[in-house]
Amino acid sequence: MTKNKNNQAIWGNRINNDTSTLFQKVGSSIAIDKRLYKEDIAASIAHVEMLFRQRIISFKIKNKIIYGLNKIEKEISKKKFEFNKKYEDIHMNIEKRLFQIIGDEAGFIHTARSRNDQVVTDLKIWIRTEVKEIISYLDKVIKSSLKLAEKNVDTIMPGFTHLKNAQAISFAHYLMAYVEMFIRDKKRFINNLESLNENPLGAAALTGTSFDIDRNYTSKKLGFKKPTNNSIDTVSDRDFVLDFLYNISVCSMHISRIAEELIIWNSDGFKLINLSNKIVTGSSIMPQKKNPDLLEFLRAKSGTSYGNLFSMLTILKGLPLSYFKDLQDDKEIIFKSNDTLINSLKILDEVLKNISPNKKQMLELANSGYITATDLADYLVKNYSMPFRKAYQKTALIVNLAEKKRKSLHELTLSDLKKIEPKLTNDVLKVFDLKNSVASKKSYGGTSFANIKKMIMKYKKQK
Ligand code: ARG
Repeated sequence: MTKNKNNQAIWGNRINNDTSTLFQKVGSSIAIDKRLYKEDIAASIAHVEMLFRQRIISFKIKNKIIYGLNKIEKEISKKKFEFNKKYEDIHMNIEKRLFQIIGDEAGFIHTARSRNDQVVTDLKIWIRTEVKEIISYLDKVIKSSLKLAEKNVDTIMPGFTHLKNAQAISFAHYLMAYVEMFIRDKKRFINNLESLNENPLGAAALTGTSFDIDRNYTSKKLGFKKPTNNSIDTVSDRDFVLDFLYNISVCSMHISRIAEELIIWNSDGFKLINLSNKIVTGSSIMPQKKNPDLLEFLRAKSGTSYGNLFSMLTILKGLPLSYFKDLQDDKEIIFKSNDTLINSLKILDEVLKNISPNKKQMLELANSGYITATDLADYLVKNYSMPFRKAYQKTALIVNLAEKKRKSLHELTLSDLKKIEPKLTNDVLKVFDLKNSVASKKSYGGTSFANIKKMIMKYKKQK
């Protein structure tokens, strides 16, 4: 059987049968890792430039290879490149094409490197770019949250614990809580960049190489701080992937929390939030419905992220050093988590631009559930030098009385109150005012209007 040599797998001389079609199908990762083509080409160009500087390859060969690589990059970006499953992955698809373009001298490209260090290099560069992308989407979400918060400093609503009315808050304070979370997410992603700044290239298969390569040069060229320290660790390490997947999981968990809350608040039981028609969907049978499907989409997606994090942890568990095919599975996981998060951040930004609080209902709900009880207890402490525990007990009795009379706290008369604490005067009635209640929480980080305004200003300036 005659065979076009160029059509053979790279190991055709050693393994002279074609890989079984089934294995070709499952073993090939090209459908997934072709996404790394730009990074792969950039790393190859840096590599051959270094090989030339170190006098390992000639000027002419270096230029030929770079010419070929640039041509391949154009072909791929113009979708004129034919990917072949037989060549397994992006690295070998590019190498094979390089042979077609420049001939046998293409063979110099793989001097002093292996796909094992190549793939980690590509992946680190790719994640680095995406981390920056994610951060820019987080910035958008933070900006939209701040905008909504700014409009709602005076919007009073119940703050909940156990989903029961707890104490009055400003809706803006609630939104600012999410701003804190997204800022922490940003920091986490920025820290992720730290774990991405060591250059794997030059670790080769696992031992390093006998060629006199300059790893500092390729580090600089590819935007890394320094080369990695141990060649075995370099090709085995996917900690930076775990960091990335963990950061994505935490961020998507935050998104699912806000989504869930908005779903509850939009429900007919609560009616605290209105969703514009842009972000609801109808029902195929119930004509009246406006469903918060998008929010449900956001809530669900944390499941995918956690699953992916656990897949990766499990792939790595007990995996001996150094490279194994098992590691090939990382890319599908990374791409999926990344795309899902970016999508979710885009959607969340859209949601934040399309929700409005139902202020009347928020206030009404805040006026139920004896929400100012803590304010009354605090008042007793401040004005009658009562220990807090005693004030707490007295207030509990006042709440019981209101409950018995089927009244809310602000509907009780002074004489009602005096039955429990005779020393009280008219002055006490101010504590039942929700505005006073919110305004009084001036401790640093508390919900007072003044605090919130300051925080919004602070974060707006940081942008
Ligand atoms: N496609 C491979 C991966 O993603 C590249 C490394 C292959 N190395 C090997 N020794 N088979 O992991």
